[in-house]
Amino acid sequence: MNLTVNYIKEKIGNFTPELGIILGSGLGDFADGLKSVIIPYNDIPGFEKSNVKGHKGQLVFAEPYGKKLIIMQGRYHFYEGYSMQTITYPIKIMKKLGVKTLIITNAAGAISKDFNPSDLMFITDHINFMGSNPLMGVNDDNLGTRFPDMSEIYSKDLILKAKNTAEKLNINYQTGVYAATTGPSYETPAEIKMYQIMGANAVGMSTAPEAIVANYCGIKVLGISCITNYAAGVTDSVLNHEEVIHTANLVKDNFKNLLNELIKII
Ligand code: HPA
Repeated sequence: MNLTVNYIKEKIGNFTPELGIILGSGLGDFADGLKSVIIPYNDIPGFEKSNVKGHKGQLVFAEPYGKKLIIMQGRYHFYEGYSMQTITYPIKIMKKLGVKTLIITNAAGAISKDFNPSDLMFITDHINFMGSNPLMGVNDDNLGTRFPDMSEIYSKDLILKAKNTAEKLNINYQTGVYAATTGPSYETPAEIKMYQIMGANAVGMSTAPEAIVANYCGIKVLGISCITNYAAGVTDSVLNHEEVIHTANLVKDNFKNLLNELIKII
């Protein structure tokens, strides 16, 4: 971990990021306009390569509105075959660099019928259906405790701030529970019915591992899902990745506006 931190510090000098942002499917270009230092994951010792469609795979350091940011433009997914440790390694590095708060974004399918594609959902909690936990293995006591509490992974305070900001900007939002699945196949209608009965409102293939590790090492988390489609069986339509990217693109401007406002007040 020291090798990674030292490499990054060489590039960013005495810049100490306080707020981290993970940009999910279709949202990657949020960071494009920002004057910044960019470090491709491929160049960072300890990081693995990322090459999924719609994801760039680089760290962006920028300071809009005087807020020091570290942005992950693209993330590692469990479905790509990466280990839970690889997926969450950047979060531990963020912690070491000084990050106090993390905004995690993703694309998700709506399980709740009263959600609409293009809604934003503030995540109140998650159910980890990935069948693994990123904290498995030897514990690093410098980062967090062996059996960390997960009663409030998603900060109530940040959710309130997000709601107020969305209202101010006239952006439609929902709140709900995010079910995390491994992917890469979308779910079956029977699975979605099960997740719904178990209390989930939306479903996606990311976020839970990063959120668990962030909470474990004392980083406050705000999770925002861009609802890109109805999950399998919720309506008659079939699912495809292009639709997910298409809807994420439609919502992009709202999402950017919301993020910009949140950056100012978080
Ligand atoms: N299921 C899982 N992941 C997703 C979905 C979905 O319906 N939409 C976007 N990511």
